[in-house]
Parts: sequence; C-alpha cells; structure tokens
Amino acid sequence: MADKAKINIGANEYEVPIVTGTENEQGLDISKLRAQSGLITLDVGFKNTGSTTSAITFLNGEEGILRYRGYPIEQLAGQSSFVEVSYLLIFGELPTQKQLDQFSHDLRVHTLVHEDMKKFFDGYPSVAHPMGQLASMVCSLSAYYPKSLNPDPTPEDRYMTIIRLLAKMPTLISWIYKKSIGHPIMYPNNNLDYVSNFLRMTFGNPAEEFAASPIVVDAMNKLLILHADHEQNCSTSTVRVVGSSHANLYASITAGITALWGPLHGGANQAVIEMLEAIKADGGNIDKWIARAKDKNDPFRLMGFGHRVYKNFDPRARIIKKAADDVLESLGLEDEILDIAKQIEEVALRDEYFVERKLYPNVDFYSGIIYRALGFPTEMFTVLFALGRLPGWIAQWKEMREQKQPISRPRQIYTGPNERPYVPIDKRG
Ligand code: SDX
Repeated sequence: MADKAKINIGANEYEVPIVTGTENEQGLDISKLRAQSGLITLDVGFKNTGSTTSAITFLNGEEGILRYRGYPIEQLAGQSSFVEVSYLLIFGELPTQKQLDQFSHDLRVHTLVHEDMKKFFDGYPSVAHPMGQLASMVCSLSAYYPKSLNPDPTPEDRYMTIIRLLAKMPTLISWIYKKSIGHPIMYPNNNLDYVSNFLRMTFGNPAEEFAASPIVVDAMNKLLILHADHEQNCSTSTVRVVGSSHANLYASITAGITALWGPLHGGANQAVIEMLEAIKADGGNIDKWIARAKDKNDPFRLMGFGHRVYKNFDPRARIIKKAADDVLESLGLEDEILDIAKQIEEVALRDEYFVERKLYPNVDFYSGIIYRALGFPTEMFTVLFALGRLPGWIAQWKEMREQKQPISRPRQIYTGPNERPYVPIDKRG
C-alpha cells in the first residue's frame, strides 16, 4: 500500500505521508501541509476527516462491522457484561477473574453520592430535562473530589476518578428519575451487581423489597454494551476536544453529555418514540410520514434512520431489534409502536429515497421500545444512552491524554468583511 501521496497546487508539488491502520484504513497526514503550502483543508462536519488514531473501537460502515478492542459487538452483547466491557474499553484487555472482581468491588464501594448533592434537586422544576440535570450533576462531582482537577494525576488518582464517575452515574440517574416522579430516592445496595443495583435504585422503593427480573437485567446489560463506544462520534469527539485542554474528566464527560443531548445524536432515541407515538395518534398512516421524511420542504426526518458512517446497516440495530421482540415476549407485553416501527422499516427499505441515500435503522430506532418495556419514561432514554456511552467516553479521554495529544484547535476559511475603518455612531446610516 502507498505510504505517501503527492498534492499538486499550482506549479508546486507537496508530498504528504499516508497513515495505514491495523484494519488497512488509510488517511493522508496533512499535519504539515499548511506549513509547506500555506493551505489548510476544509471539511465542514468532519465527514471525511480523521481527528486521531485510536486503538479502542473499529467500525466499518460499509460492512456493518463494530468491534471493541477487536472483539465483535455481537459476541460481547451475547456473552459479556457491561462492567466487563467497561473494563475492556478503558484498560484495553478483557479482565482476568481477579481483575474483574477488583474492578467490580471498587465500583460497588463508590456508588454513594455526597449528601449535599441532593440539595441540587430542590432548585429544579419537575419538568427539567434529565440530560440537563445529569450534565450539571456530573460536572459538580469535581467540587467534591478536588484531586480530580489535577491535570497530571498519579495513575492511582486517575483510576479513582474513573471509578467514582462510573460508580456514581447510576445513582445520579436514578435520583433524577425518582425526583421527576416525586418518589423518595433509593440508596445503592452494594450487595448487588452494577445493573441490578441501578434497576433497584430506579424502580424500587423504600416500602418494599425489589429485585429486577433476570430478563430485564440481561436486556439492560445488552443495551448498555451496545451503546458503550462508537469511535469518533459527535459526543466522543467533544469529550476528546474538551479533554485536550486538560480539563478534568468530569468536565470533559459533561461536554459529552451535552453533545449527546441533540436529537440528531443521542437525543434521537427519545425523538423516535415521540415520532412513533405521533404516527400512532395519526391512525398509523405510515405512508404519509414517509412522504414527509422525503419532502425537502418539510423539516421532518425519519428519526432513528440514517447514519454518518453506517451505509449498509447498523449492527447494533439488528441486535436491539431482536432483543425488543425477546423482551416484549418474555415480559408478556405487546407494544403497538413496535409494530409501527417494523412497518416503517419495511416500507422505507423498499423506497428508492432511503435506498439511494443508504438510510437504514440506526441504534436509536428500536432501543426506545425496549427502554419503554423495561419501564423507563421517554425523557429518560437519552440519559440511558449516556450511561451506556460513559465507559467509551472515559476510554477515549484516557487514550487522548496518554497519547499526549495537543490541544484541539481547528483552522477556518474566513468569509467576512475585509478591513474597514470604524464609523462613529452619529455617522452611521
Ligand atoms: C447516533 O456517529 C455516530 O456514531 C452516532 C451514533 C453513536 O453511537 O454515537 O451512532 C449515535 O447519533 C445515531 C444517529 C441518530 N440520529 C437520528 O436518528 C436522527 C435522524 N438521522 C439524521 O438526522 C441523519 O441521518 C444523521 C444525522 C444521523 C446523519 O446525517 P449525515 O451523515 O450528515 O447525512 P446528511 O444529513 O447529509 O443526509 C444525507 C441525505 C440528505 O438528503 P439529500 O440532501 O442528499 O437529498 O440523506 C437525507 C438527508 O436529507 N437524510 C434523511 C435522514 N437522514 C439523512 N432523510 C430523512 N430522514 C432521515 N433520518
């Protein structure tokens, strides 16, 4: 494979190295192009621009491949646990039993949140969106752990900052949910595994014993694993950019949470359910809504469809679609909007507009149906995406710091006014 490329600009010729990855992906390294030629490259939305090398996640959008540290997502979703996958993403290898036991123990004994943080909820209106609350809660963790502010911590201090964030996120998320419905919060039970503890804090109450069913625990583990990382997506890139200024981990993850909130990104799982509910309320008139999605004059898009990278199918959507069927059947539930979702997929995948643009169901198209079946309200769905993506964000932030990457500072092409003199206000038109 070629290891360099020539770029001809006017009468000049420049040579740029070609970087080749372990899966034979190739990229032009243009880091010295401006110094050589005075030109930058322009790629609005970074659709064709690599921001880094990374050893964490590999995905192939044409072939629908997704692997965490080389392990296929299908095998991890079917055989691993979210805690084990978190360890894999952050530390690079599957843990031995001893390592997994230690990691699980460290998580269990750091699940409590400082009591003063309960006061934060007193200021929120009951309709405050959970993502806004989660962002402020996570950023505020830095107030209680000043060592986390050190941009060059000891490995032990960095490990503890990572553990505290992973351990406390489920507690914070369950508190946000409990406060939204006016129920008393539940404290963690450190005899439970990570997912069972989260489900108990979310759906249990102090008046009675609660134990999540194995079906629900399994479905939740699978969903969290499927969301755990996805290379340089919008929110992960945001975490890396913020972290590149040596902002602390809590601040960097907060930035990822706010980026994920957008309906074009993680907010899509909430938007999908709202869309399916609207279609159901409209008598299930799927053809009408498909036509709207295709209409350039209509801002409506088919939420949960399309992807920046997957142009064949999103492997996660396939797994989640099957899990949705299994969970609903196991719980003896029926959900009309699952039928509507399947009909939409069937109609869209036969429609030239979607086929031509390579628009397929993405991870968000079916995930909300399972969250609903598990008992979560729609406005909590994106917070659940954030919980799943947390180990990926942490792993990417840690890799960027360990790679000693420079502060992210893209260039631009200026298109504003040329130099002009100041006009005193009494001389303006
Ligand atoms: C996630 O990057 C990641 O990895 C993200 C993610 C992760 O794990 O981190 O996978 C999670 O964010 C999944 C995506 C969730 N978002 C949605 O489901 C929202 C609906 N989808 C779209 O908004 C859109 O498909 C994006 C944002 C996902 C991708 O947009 P792109 O790559 O910028 O594509 P585009 O907007 O340039 O669209 C190309 C064409 C356009 O039509 P033309 O101008 O060529 O005529 O496809 C059309 C778009 O109008 N199009 C859609 C559509 N998505 C794209 N038309 C109707 N419905 C849609 N959903």
